[in-house]
Amino acid sequence: MEDHIRFDIADHALMLLDQRLLPTRKSLAVCRSVGDIVTALQTMVVRGAPAIGVTAAWGCVLALEDVVRRGDKEWRAALDAELDRIAEARPTAVNLRWAVERMRAIAAGFDGPASELAPLFQREARTIQQEDIATCKALGRAGADCIPDGATVMTHCNAGALATAGYGTALGVVRAALEQGKRIRVIANETRPFLQGARLTAWELKEDVIDVTVACDNACALLMQKGMVDCVVVGADRIAANGDSANKIGTFGVAILARHFGIPFYIAAPLSTIDPATPTGAGIPIEERPYEEVAILNERRICPEDVPAYNFAFDVTPAHMITGIITEAGVLRPPYKDSIAAALKNHSRR
Ligand code: MRU
Repeated sequence: MEDHIRFDIADHALMLLDQRLLPTRKSLAVCRSVGDIVTALQTMVVRGAPAIGVTAAWGCVLALEDVVRRGDKEWRAALDAELDRIAEARPTAVNLRWAVERMRAIAAGFDGPASELAPLFQREARTIQQEDIATCKALGRAGADCIPDGATVMTHCNAGALATAGYGTALGVVRAALEQGKRIRVIANETRPFLQGARLTAWELKEDVIDVTVACDNACALLMQKGMVDCVVVGADRIAANGDSANKIGTFGVAILARHFGIPFYIAAPLSTIDPATPTGAGIPIEERPYEEVAILNERRICPEDVPAYNFAFDVTPAHMITGIITEAGVLRPPYKDSIAAALKNHSRR
């Protein structure tokens, strides 16, 4: 699946498959302005770190179009301000900032009128999108070797085609293992409160006729105790320089259980998810999302009025609990401070 994020040049619009409505409705959300892009990111029309980055890159294209239309004399300052708005839409997934900075670098290296920057901006956004698919396929191939034939892979949240430009990170590993001819089953943790596992992972695997079973988040310990899980593969929103990895809330708990039961626990993510400027997980900002996501389900209140709720969207799994970090540069192993530094040195992540 590669058409869930599609820029329509003629219509000056980014078309997004609205992930809030899956699995029951396939409907497109149309973004024509930076405001639309920021809203789509914040309300999770589109979500997942690499998909957020690709959307942000196309958002920069819309930002430039808007600046050109307004005819601002100080167009560089105006563009920078719009790009900042996009970069700040969500705090945890570093791919968002990474993509915006790539676009900003194109503007910085350009010496001419704003209107002539447009084709360069479009080309860079398209490159970011296409590269992401190639990156997911490369990391999928690298990770497939970690998955034994006949394995049941547990995953948390959705780190699939929907969360990227296509193919997926954690689900890219599953897809690549299947392409190697292995027999693989997936357990998709439902992933309260936004239900990315039950709604999105299950949907896209079913579309591809991949064997998937949904499990309640709180069934994880039992499933592992029963020997029903052979390995865990999840994505990441930001990986610190020492390997501490932020991913969807609940991932840390899955990692603790995997360690208890001696089950390998892998992170699958592109190098663009590594943030060398953040030394450890303690420096990763954790997004807090609206109360209603926890307290209201299908328009029905599920906890009493006036009772507050926690809605931290991510947690950080410490590096020492991670068996390997699967990237397009291969599977990084502990000590991650060294393997991450070497991968970033030897491999371009643009
Ligand atoms: O809040 P979300 O749905 O954007 O969170 C997504 C995740 O936590 C994913 O696991 C992560 O971004 C990796 S996507 C390849």
